[in-house]
Amino acid sequence: MASMQRSLALTALAFGAGAWAQQAGTSTAENHPSMPWDLCTASGCTEQKGSIVLDSNWRWVHNVDGYTNCYDGNTWNADYCPNNQACAENCALDGADYTGTYGIQASDGSLTLTLKPGSNVGSRVYLMATDDENYEMFKLKNKEFTVDVDVSNLPCGLNGALYFVSMAEDGDLSATNKAGAKYGTGYCDSQCPQDIKFIDGKANVDGWTPSDGDPNSGTGNIGACCAEMDIWEANSISAAYTPHPCDGNGLVECTSDAECGVGDNRYKGTCDRDGCDFNSFRLGNESFYGPGDIVDTGSKMTVVTQFITSDNTDTGDLTAIRRVYVQGGKVIANSQSDVAGIDKTNEITSAFCTQQKDVFGDTNSFADKGGLAKMGDAMADGMVLVLSIWDDYTAGMRWLDAEAYPADADPSKPGIARGTCAVDSGVPSEVESQFGDASVTFSNIKFGAIGSTYSS
Ligand SMILES: *[C@@H]1O[C@H](CO)[C@@H](O)[C@H](O)[C@H]1NC(C)=O
Repeated sequence: MASMQRSLALTALAFGAGAWAQQAGTSTAENHPSMPWDLCTASGCTEQKGSIVLDSNWRWVHNVDGYTNCYDGNTWNADYCPNNQACAENCALDGADYTGTYGIQASDGSLTLTLKPGSNVGSRVYLMATDDENYEMFKLKNKEFTVDVDVSNLPCGLNGALYFVSMAEDGDLSATNKAGAKYGTGYCDSQCPQDIKFIDGKANVDGWTPSDGDPNSGTGNIGACCAEMDIWEANSISAAYTPHPCDGNGLVECTSDAECGVGDNRYKGTCDRDGCDFNSFRLGNESFYGPGDIVDTGSKMTVVTQFITSDNTDTGDLTAIRRVYVQGGKVIANSQSDVAGIDKTNEITSAFCTQQKDVFGDTNSFADKGGLAKMGDAMADGMVLVLSIWDDYTAGMRWLDAEAYPADADPSKPGIARGTCAVDSGVPSEVESQFGDASVTFSNIKFGAIGSTYSS
């Protein structure tokens, strides 16, 4: 799963000169909060000067020549946005007040994302390269990615996510997308999101249908599909890591329910929406991860993810994804699966995915889309790091954390129980009003050779 986005339409505070034609606005200066991270080898780590950028969907979109909203609530302004092309020409994405408006705090390599600091809900940011113009591209095969995570303030229904997607390095900069990575354009993921306002230099106005439940979101005719490697989808109750390969390479636009994999067409789409997930609770260990558990979500933990290849080189096929935790100075091996019909394992391999799909009765779209090898191909092209906090207007995050998902399924059947959250938990209107100050903190990002990014 991946996030639904929503944006904040601000009332115009008009000052300053005009803007360039999707285009980049100049009302608020765009200053990327600094987010240093470590690149590691066997001989040590060196600090990289990264920064983060807010996704364009959350930004104020106004006309190029003034400060009228091109997008307001969950509808487009008909004058500026009569169609996809004109809208991209007429509208500009503006700079972001990261802390004030979006509740995003970055300092010393630590990033805190707050669910609802004011009227804005959730956020999604990307790691920029040192040039501050392009996204940092990560090639994960035969490498290890490590991050400290604090989920203690993330209740049922929320997701503090860290993952990689096959976005373009420059955010699909073009003659009709002058904003680019610097303004957080170019998002795509394995859910083929159709709520993206600008895709590859066009607006997504045609066919736009405002969301029933979400006052800030809607869906257009185009979906933005690409491969996704979820390192961390979690709250204080449950956690999962999940590869989602796609048929194509990079961003692929889908324009029909079949291509996008909507509803009954879920398994016809170009991407593997389900993925092959490793969730310790779902895999039979209900006391491994949670408040006071072996991996105690009451305090910060280090999450290590390793991408193992067939020949232990960067060019081999991806064959396993391993997980290790470090907490309180202790290395904690990932839990072993404990489900009849699934060989005991604590890593994702092709055999594990096939057995899991079989035993859980799930369609194996993971294998259909090329499985680990295809996921590895996406990694070889380079992927962009995404960090987000979100609530789930589709399923209340119950696929991650509920006692039963689907709600009416028998929780004693394998694969149905995902965590300890109630089967009716995670309703966005409830979590937003009760837990607006919920937050996740990611810090100490390290990337490099296997074994180089953590110690006990
Ligand atoms: C859960 O995982 C821990 C750590 O691997 C292990 O000690 C424990 O026995 C497991 N519990 C169950 C019920 O499988």
